[in-house]
Amino acid sequence: MSFDFFVPCPRGLEAALASELAGIGARHLNGAPFAPGAQVPGGVHFRGGWAAGMAANLHSRIASRVLLKIAHRPYRSEQDVYALALEQRWEQWFSANETLRVDVTAIKSPLRSLEFATLRVKDAICDRLREKSGARPSIDTAEPDVRVFAFLTATDCTLYLDTSGDPLFKRGWRLDKGAAPLRENLAAGILRLTGWTAGTPLYDPMCGSGTFLAEAAQVALNIAPGVERRFGFERLKQYDASAWQALKAAAVDAKRAARGSRADLQIFGSDISGDMLDKARANFERAGLNVPLKQVDARGMTPPVGTPGILVANPPYGERIEVRGRGPRGEVRETGRESRENREDEGFKRVHTDAPDSEFFKSFGDALKQRFTGWHAFVLTSDRKLPGQMRLRESTKTPLFNGALECRLFRFDLIAGSVRQRPAASAADPAGTAEGQS
Ligand SMILES: C[S@@+](CC[C@H](N)C(=O)[O-])C[C@H]1O[C@@H](n2cnc3c(N)ncnc32)[C@H](O)[C@@H]1O
Repeated sequence: MSFDFFVPCPRGLEAALASELAGIGARHLNGAPFAPGAQVPGGVHFRGGWAAGMAANLHSRIASRVLLKIAHRPYRSEQDVYALALEQRWEQWFSANETLRVDVTAIKSPLRSLEFATLRVKDAICDRLREKSGARPSIDTAEPDVRVFAFLTATDCTLYLDTSGDPLFKRGWRLDKGAAPLRENLAAGILRLTGWTAGTPLYDPMCGSGTFLAEAAQVALNIAPGVERRFGFERLKQYDASAWQALKAAAVDAKRAARGSRADLQIFGSDISGDMLDKARANFERAGLNVPLKQVDARGMTPPVGTPGILVANPPYGERIEVRGRGPRGEVRETGRESRENREDEGFKRVHTDAPDSEFFKSFGDALKQRFTGWHAFVLTSDRKLPGQMRLRESTKTPLFNGALECRLFRFDLIAGSVRQRPAASAADPAGTAEGQS
């Protein structure tokens, strides 16, 4: 039996997700039982059996969730949405004993209140279950057993049943987050965009809690991102339990084999903050990973190995956290604690602290030019003027969304004798002439 699935992901990673799903089908499902569907902003559609939905949950590093499509119909009013939800055979999937949460998202919906639409979907599901079983499910917005998503466009309503539970970027091992961590699925998608493959040196000189490094190490060791966690579908009445046992057992075996491996992963990290490095180490330990870390100011960084590779970083930017360590190059100095607002993980509270630190970024750019010949550096930032501040010209820039924050992934090819430098004048140009120059 086949189903329609929709897999949301951070915007900008749709093509990377589609190719990842194709690879999962080929590697874990004896062929390619993912029938690829449309890529739309923020996600990818596919058609497949339960095994495909479960494999996407277990193995996708880029997906945010895997949603099972239940119904789709044009609508005009909240009553139409209620009627569509009431007609669905929810009792086939879960009972009134399960707690429920409903979320509605909309693009150009004519409805006046999404909150009211959410209530109507919830009422319809509860009314349906009461009619069929005599009991209504309770609502639990914090830790529901079952989640239903409604997606409204200007004309159509689609209802989805969530198969993931907690969002998939929660791998189940990161507890220590630090000030401004990247979500794991965004980090994994960026790694894919860099073209990095296991065995190539990888270095994050502002590694924070170590998200890029942990994601890369798990790729290198063939550890499934979801092997440590549970999924929403495990609470549904119907899913293919024997196919799930087989998928899960293979992933657990692969993880066990990885633990015994003494492979030199060629994955390295550093950060100016000893506290952050402690958090990263604690995370790696929980994930069963071993990644060498050093306390270094990125202005004084040197390549961790002789062979050039990929450098990847998301530096601090003014609206998230301050650049720390303004001492002379290479000197490590800690500044005060980050503000509470900056510890935000879900979504993005913008906290304007410092203006971007041009001295830091110029020195960081100098370090790349002078000491990283042959490397390819990828920097994620919401600051479009960053290449100017680094006095480097990017080879490419890829729009990506870090939550609601629009960012660019800048690529710098540090090829001997051909580092494309910016004239100092343009670096000072606040218009950020980076746009349009790749
Ligand atoms: C946006 S965070 C990186 C978050 C990281 N990608 C993660 O997922 O946890 C920026 C990091 O840059 C570090 N940092 C700030 N100034 C630095 C400097 N001069 N040299 C090296 N690291 C620095 C901070 O300690 C922080 O961990």
